[in-house]
Amino acid sequence: METHITHSEEATREVAEEFLSTLKGGEVIELVGDLGSGKTTFVRGLVQALGSTARVKSPTFTVMNEYPTQSEKIKLVVHLDLYRFKEAGQLEALAINDYIKPDSIIVIEWPDIFEEPVLRADRKVMFRHIDEATREIQFV
Ligand SMILES: Nc1ncnc2c1ncn2[C@@H]1O[C@H](COP(=O)(O)OP(=O)(O)OP(=O)(O)O)[C@@H](O)[C@H]1O
Ligand SMILES: [Mg+2]
Repeated sequence: METHITHSEEATREVAEEFLSTLKGGEVIELVGDLGSGKTTFVRGLVQALGSTARVKSPTFTVMNEYPTQSEKIKLVVHLDLYRFKEAGQLEALAINDYIKPDSIIVIEWPDIFEEPVLRADRKVMFRHIDEATREIQFV
């Protein structure tokens, strides 16, 4: 278990870049933690570190966002937020399995919100709100 304490959004994005270096492509990654604990910020760090200038926002009406990158190893980041999915009641319409590809990664916020797991995850990153500017980020 690797534990990082960050004191800014930027520091959280840097932790994401470090996590990225442990990936080989094809992974499904769960992001677990309370509202505002830094999950979307972490995704922003992944996408940025892969050379995309896209603005990462929580998938809301769009349900899922895809970010093409400049990387050969990981060409696409697929970002899901099941919290919003649940509100949208749209899960069944989406064949998430189809997005698992060796040169993509799938990152999922709120992976446990449905009774049945939506996808089997390869990696898990946990986020804890410590105080206003401080977050604890853990991954294996
Ligand atoms: N060290 C930090 N790392 C990341 N975000 C931080 C940090 N300190 C403060 N923040 C603030 O916390 C918030 C994190 O928001 P973010 O959207 O990343 O959370 P989230 O876990 O995705 O929440 P949600 O479950 O609602 O999607 C932002 O407003 C950000 O500015
Ligand atoms: Mg979020």
